[in-house]
Formats: sequence, C-alpha cells, structure tokens
Amino acid sequence: MPRKLAAGNWKMNGMKQDLETIQSLSETYGAATVDVMVCLPATLIAACRDSAIGIGAQDCHALEGGAHTGDLSAEMLADAGATAIITGHSERRADHGETDADICAKSKAAYRAGTMAIICIGETLAQREDGTTLQLIDIQLAGSVPDAASAANTVIAYEPVWAIGTGKVPTLAQIEEVHAHIRMRLTERFSDGAEFTLLYGGSVKAGNAAEIFGVPNVDGALVGGASLKAADFGPIIAALQAT
Ligand code: 13P
Repeated sequence: MPRKLAAGNWKMNGMKQDLETIQSLSETYGAATVDVMVCLPATLIAACRDSAIGIGAQDCHALEGGAHTGDLSAEMLADAGATAIITGHSERRADHGETDADICAKSKAAYRAGTMAIICIGETLAQREDGTTLQLIDIQLAGSVPDAASAANTVIAYEPVWAIGTGKVPTLAQIEEVHAHIRMRLTERFSDGAEFTLLYGGSVKAGNAAEIFGVPNVDGALVGGASLKAADFGPIIAALQAT
C-alpha cells in the first residue's frame, strides 16, 4: 500500500512569527498515523529542522553548487533540514518557464541529496476543455519523472492548474480518472509503481478533504492556502487519518 501523506505548500508565505504554526502542527500531528509534511520557504527550513513533522522545500537548482546567484542546491536544502523538495510546481513552470527536462534534472538533484522529490503535474483549463488532459499527463510523467524514481524517493502530485487557489475542484470522477491513469503509467514503467504515493492538489479544504481522500488512488493531498494555519490544515490531516 502507498504511504499516505498530507503535505502543505506554503509557497511565498511565512515569516518567523509563523513558526508557531509548525510547532502546533508538530505537537498535534507529530505522531499521526499518516505522514505529515510542510514545504516551507527556504528561509524557515533550518528553524524547523527538528520538528516532529516532515519539512520540505519548494524548489532547488539542478547542480550541487557553483556560480548561480540566488539559487539553492538540493544539498543546501537537505543540509538545512529538508527531507523532500517539490519539483515542477505549476507556478514555477509558469513563472520561471521550467520545462519537463528542468524538472527531471531537479528531481535527480533531490535524489542525489538524499531527499524525496514531490513532482507536480497537471493540466491548464484550456487543456482540460480541449480534452487533452491525459495526453499532457503522459508528456509530463515521461519528461519530468527520472528513471531512478521509486516509491521510496518520489511522490507524484496531480494539481490541475485551474484548481489551484481558485476554489474550483474537479469532480471526484475527474480526479479518479487522472489518478488511475497516473497509477497505470507508473506501474507500466516502475516495478514498484503501485506503491508510489499520489497526491491530489488544488483547493483542498477541510470541507472537501474527506470525499477527495475517498477517491481510489488518492493517497493524500498537497495543500496550499489551507496549510498556512494549523486550524485549517489540522482537519485535513485528520480526514486523511480517518480514511
Ligand atoms: P491551493 O490549495 O491554495 O489551491 O494550492 C494548491 C497548491 O498549489 C499546492 O501546491
């Protein structure tokens, strides 16, 4: 069975004063029966390195070091305390023009540093309306997921771009279709494809988490806005534990 994971993505949010949220989540969910993680802005990672919940980063450079002003290597993030790195988030694909090849290289960097890669894929609204969602998923899986991926070092997050931060959520049937498709492709390609943790992301809230977690092949969520406060993220973690 894939491991269940409730992961938060704080994006470009979080100041020192917000560390109390990590403290509170650690106290309440540090011994949860599912994995709990928050992917923090890099500035907060070191301060949380001894948390009882997992601490992740949101991006890395593909190289180990060198003349790349402003960038952070996977090794630096691991050294600070990150045990996972998000790669290929749609906001980085859009804001920084990251390609599948870039994301594959960054995911390999995450493995090289001994961290897990949380590789994000998902269609835009135009692709959903064109009926090309599954084709796009195939392209992103083939291009972004390294051959060295395994259930131990990789989590796949399906995040439809049009559902991120919009309050719009696909139907449960749409989530089921895409997750089943991802599972099929992973099992075709990897001997342990059935064990990969598959997350759904996009407007997950306390009010819709339980029904989303009931969808086959959904092993957890990648949560943006609703992970910023323990009072919002807590019920999502509890819903995952209850499934
Ligand atoms: P929201 O939960 O705010 O829609 O963000 C989802 C997301 O992008 C997580 O990576």
